Order: sequence, then C-alpha cells, then structure tokens
Amino acid sequence: MGINIAIDGPSGAGKSTIAKAIAKKIQYVYVDTGALYRSIALHMIRNSVDVKDEEKVCENLVGLDVKLGYVDGSQRVILNGEDVSELIRTPEISMGASAVSAIPKVREFLFDLQQNIAKENNILMDGRDIGTGVLPNADVKIFLTASAEKRAERRFKELQEKGDTSTYEEVLQDIIKRDYNDTHREIAPLKKADDAIEVDSSDMTLEEVVDCISNIISEKVNPVKKNKTDREMMPVQPVDRNAKLGFFRGLGYNFVRCCVKIAFKIWYKIEIIGKENIPKKGGHIFASTHRSYADPVLLAIASKTPFSFMAKEELFTGNKFFAWLIRWLGAFPVKRGKGDTEAIDKSLEELNKGRNLIIFPEGTRSKDGKVGKIKTGVALIGAVAQVPVVPSAIIFEGKLKFRKKIILAFAPAIDPVELGINSTSARELKILKSRISEDINKLVDENVNKL
Ligand code: DC
Repeated sequence: MGINIAIDGPSGAGKSTIAKAIAKKIQYVYVDTGALYRSIALHMIRNSVDVKDEEKVCENLVGLDVKLGYVDGSQRVILNGEDVSELIRTPEISMGASAVSAIPKVREFLFDLQQNIAKENNILMDGRDIGTGVLPNADVKIFLTASAEKRAERRFKELQEKGDTSTYEEVLQDIIKRDYNDTHREIAPLKKADDAIEVDSSDMTLEEVVDCISNIISEKVNPVKKNKTDREMMPVQPVDRNAKLGFFRGLGYNFVRCCVKIAFKIWYKIEIIGKENIPKKGGHIFASTHRSYADPVLLAIASKTPFSFMAKEELFTGNKFFAWLIRWLGAFPVKRGKGDTEAIDKSLEELNKGRNLIIFPEGTRSKDGKVGKIKTGVALIGAVAQVPVVPSAIIFEGKLKFRKKIILAFAPAIDPVELGINSTSARELKILKSRISEDINKLVDENVNKL
C-alpha cells in the first residue's frame, strides 16, 4: 500500500493543475478521477443516451471498458481502447459528467478502479468524494475551494485560450449549477471530510497554493518519530560508484563462482529472468525475496560482481571454518531486531569497495514463497548510500530438492536519486520502501506461473 493523498473540492478550484504540479514535485502518481466520470459521459452522449436517464445510462454501462494509463507521467483515459483524454474537456461533457456522477451504478462502476490504483502506488488523487468515500483512510486529505466567481474567472480564461465562445456569465452559471448538483446529489455528495484541511485558493497564486499544500503534505506524511530510533538523523553519504574491486579478489571470486554455478546448474533447473537488469558494476543493492540459506549463492550465480550480505550474528560464533567461509563469501554479522548502525556502516563500506550488497528486506525466510512485509532497512541503506536498488526474486515451489526448478528474476533498478530521495526522512524512506515492495511483489506475481 502506497501513500495516499486525497484532494477534493468543487469544479474549477484548480485541483487538477495543482495536484499535477505537486505529484510531479513529490514523484507520486496523479489520478484525476473526474476524467473517469467524463469518459462515461462522453460514451453516453456519443450513443445518444440522455445522461439524466438513470436506467438507460446503467444499460449502457454494461461491457464498457474504462482504464487509466500514463504516457510520460501524464494521465490518459482509455475508453473501450480509445484514448479520449482530450475529447472529454468540453463544457458539454462537464455537465454530462456532473449528471452521470449522481447515478449510484456509475459510482459503483468506477469505485474499485480508483481504489485499486491507490493500493498499488503512492498517489495523489483528486475528485469530489476521495477523502469521504474512495480513500477514507488517506494519509492526507485536502479540501480545495475558491469562490464561484474566482473559479469562473479561471475557467473562462482557460476556455477562451482554447477558442471556446462561452461568455463569463455562462461559465459562472455552469459552475453554480455543477456545484449545486455535486453538493446536493444523494450519493457521495461533495463535502469536506471531517479530517480534511481546507485551503481556499481565491486569493492565492498557483505557486502559493502548490507550496501551501506541499507543506501540509510533508508535515503529515513525515511523522518524525523522535527518540524511537536515530534513523531519521542519519546523513546521506553517497558511496563511490566508480570504486573497483581488486583484480585478484575478483578473479578468485569468479573462479569459485563458476565452479559453484556448474554444480548448482547440474543440481537444480535454474532460469534467470531479467538478465538485462543485472548491473555489470558494483555499488548496487539487490533487494531479494528470501526462500532458503542457498539464496546468497543463487544470487551470486546471476551476477559476476561479488556480493556482500548481512547474516545473523550467531553464524559467526559457532564453527570457525564456517565463519571464515561465509566471511570470505561476503557475509558480515548483524544483530537482528536492533537498529544496528554498525551493520549500516559496514554496508556502506562494502558498497564503497565496489561490491554489491544483498539485502533480504523481509528479514526472514518465507516458507511458502509469499512475499512478506518489507522492512525499512533496505530503503534506509539505499537512501544513505544513494545507490540503485535492484528488486530481485528467488522463486520455487516447496523446498529445494534435486532438479527443482528455480527462477531468479530481476527488475530494473530503482534509483533513489531519480526518485528525488536525498535525505533519510520518514517520508522519503516510505516512498522508496513502497516502490521496492511493489516491484518485488510484481516480479513474483509475474513469474510464479512460469515454474
Ligand atoms: O473534476 P471534474 O470537473 O473533471 O469532474 C467532472 C464531474 O465528475 C464533476 O461534475 C463531478 C464528478 N466527479 C465526482 O462526482 N466524483 C469524483 N471523484 C470526481 C468527479
């Protein structure tokens, strides 16, 4: 589940322009739910269905396919396979959308679609009932308003620029009528959620509103838990991405790796998916699902660059040869369940040597192959070190046995720098952690049926 921000408010309050600008700034997916209602209105109008005729509208919903897509980060609405994003921006469709949105079946029809998008991403969703109905548990709720006159002024200007001939008075009357429709309908009327913060943009510039809402969001989404851990205080210490591993170390490692690879390939049926996503250089974190003790070795088979990985402290205190061997293979000890800053320092040290780092972000092995909840540590190290994280999955059924099929899958690296993550604030760690979690889950879902 990503971070959800709901922005509700009446027509013309500038929600979409503002939400778009903020989403871009904080790297969230922007979801304009009004566009969904507009696409339904377009469909009805095209098929000569009276948008107020509830029965006919419901009949015409059957088999209708509405989807949201994204091209270069901007939302597109796809109606029965056709991109209608531009066609839905007319005064006729605005009124039509207002009418169809009052029909319960239409709202039901679009409800799951909206909730599912919110489940999978960090989103900023705008509409009328987002804070009150679609995302009642949103992390931040904003109610954006402006006087009807101000809104009419802005909409009038916009329409004029598009060459529309409506007069200011017509636009104002339209807005008043839509406000009335939207606030007086029986189902999901436009209203401020009790826990929403109201922002009146009547006398504010666009930049002022963007700044104001961005500040509210960062204060709400960034609940710094003081004294619990000192994680938030950890400074960013970018690792040397050009560090090279000693030639002989690399040679020795790869000799052993090749022998192990041959043995493992005889013993198991290994398939590697997403080879192109395996970086050729060190200085990356591989965030992988954890299925067995053989996992570091399986990952090492896929990548030529030596890995370092954390292993529980107890493994280093027993058999001396075993301790030496796992150290030679790249393991270093961590104290489990404690905020181990030493392990973080050690991770940075290893990355700075030009090695890659394996982290099993679930913290423990999964017996049934289901991906558990991921911990923040992986995002913390990624943010501190400012290194890309490669979502990885080790997929097999049941237990590891002779000739068992194993899939090693890798997704494109997530670069904290590209995500705009330049601190270890709770908000930024949450963003990075959600992305890693989503991509790992997707990898498993997409590949599990290839076993
Ligand atoms: O935000 P907009 O102007 O594109 O919305 C078009 C219409 O859709 C608007 O009159 C109200 C309706 N709508 C709604 O009822 N619920 C939403 N979440 C979004 C829009």
